[in-house]
Amino acid sequence: MPTVTFRGREIECKEGETLRNVLKRAGLSPHNGKTKTFNCKGFASCGTCAVAVDGEVSDVGIREKGRLLTPPHHPNYDLRLSCQTKVLGDIEVEKYPGYWGTKIAEGPLPPVDEGDDDSETSEAAAD
Ligand code: FES
Repeated sequence: MPTVTFRGREIECKEGETLRNVLKRAGLSPHNGKTKTFNCKGFASCGTCAVAVDGEVSDVGIREKGRLLTPPHHPNYDLRLSCQTKVLGDIEVEKYPGYWGTKIAEGPLPPVDEGDDDSETSEAAAD
């Protein structure tokens, strides 16, 4: 049973489970700020569920690749859409600040137990 490590938490899941679903089931979110409510619900169109993933996951699909090539995303960010990513083994996941989670230079968000730091500092225009 794979383990997902995210913001100081460890969550066990079924192999092949979608990463976004794993996080949400655990009461966590791959989204920042208002995108926790306003997102495409897993259809690879909004791009706000983007996270950095280290570990064994599914390959990038055509829809996901297309969204990650569309600004404000950029292929150099090396992010994945959690709604399109299947967990295949133990993985470590980081979420970055910003509306789309693309403020990589600011570093990943801290453990959830250290506070919810992704409040409304994430205006779309600033990302
Ligand atoms: S939830 Fe919109 S792209 Fe993943």
